[in-house]
Amino acid sequence: MIIIGIETSCDDTSIAIIKNGKVLANVTSSSTKVHEQYGGIVPELAARKHCTNIDKVFQHAIKIAKIKPNDIDYVAYTSEPGLIGSLHVGKVFAKQLAALLGVKIIQVNHLLAHIFSYFLDHDIKDLKFPFLSVVVSGGHTFIAINYSVNKYRILNSSIDDACGETLDKIGRLLKLPYPGGISIDKIYNSKKVFDLIKHSIADKEFSFSGLKTAVSNLINNLRQKKKKIDTVGIASSSLKWIIDDLEIKIKYYLNKYPKTKMILFGGGVSANSLLRKTFTKWRNTKFLFPTIQYTNDNAAMVALWAFLLLKYRGKEC
Ligand code: KG4
Ligand code: ZN
Repeated sequence: MIIIGIETSCDDTSIAIIKNGKVLANVTSSSTKVHEQYGGIVPELAARKHCTNIDKVFQHAIKIAKIKPNDIDYVAYTSEPGLIGSLHVGKVFAKQLAALLGVKIIQVNHLLAHIFSYFLDHDIKDLKFPFLSVVVSGGHTFIAINYSVNKYRILNSSIDDACGETLDKIGRLLKLPYPGGISIDKIYNSKKVFDLIKHSIADKEFSFSGLKTAVSNLINNLRQKKKKIDTVGIASSSLKWIIDDLEIKIKYYLNKYPKTKMILFGGGVSANSLLRKTFTKWRNTKFLFPTIQYTNDNAAMVALWAFLLLKYRGKEC
């Protein structure tokens, strides 16, 4: 079974082709450079970039996968959530392709696709329900319990900024290269960590705006007093705060749902070195992280989710 995945929810135009769950091609054209100068994604520019890139990315993917368009059995595309203009480009492309080929179309939730991305290059036999998922991306932060490929319940979700967005904003305040999440990962130093603000209690929703405000106030105070800004210290303390917060909440939900078989991480921030180091240390809990190339937005995860949906249809717990 050959599935083409189309991902255009944010700034990356990505098209992948998978055969029986195995990746044949995963081509991504990133528009990060365009947004860099603005310190964040400009939706209109992202949508325009998708328009100019999508056909080239499609041709490239077909070539790498060594298939003909007629070999495709299903077209899967990201239908939500995301930037409306960006999503629309992917939707129109997917619908036209499916109509031309006379094949079925599968709408994919981008966040569910992130959850299962570990299985892009690991054995699907290890997929055991129910499990807890932790999505930490630029736009979302949540913990969910998953009962099947498309049956899940969100247990805790950020009420304000997502953790990736917070790191990007703190990076900008510290004048670090965009995106801040990656820059902060690179300069993290455990010896430079100091206390910023208190953590909320375990069963309260994620909230990262307090951290961002604390960092902003600290930097403004230091600037006013003409004091030196400890970039590495502030960046490291912010990252440590976010990871500690994730740890507090994950511990709480693991206790609440003892039947959970494993914890699957997904989303851009799951590439973070401190995050991986912290959770790998936990004994008795199986934490699974996607391979780094699949932590960020990619179409392979979109196609894989469609494949899993077809494979596990009707199998729930
Ligand atoms: O999942 P993703 O590619 O896009 C969304 O769906 O939002 O995540 C992008 C986010 C950005 O905020 C970026 O700064 C963050 O992931 N990120 C990282 C790392 N790599 C990407 N944050 C911390 N450490 C990293 N190594
Ligand atoms: Zn994403």
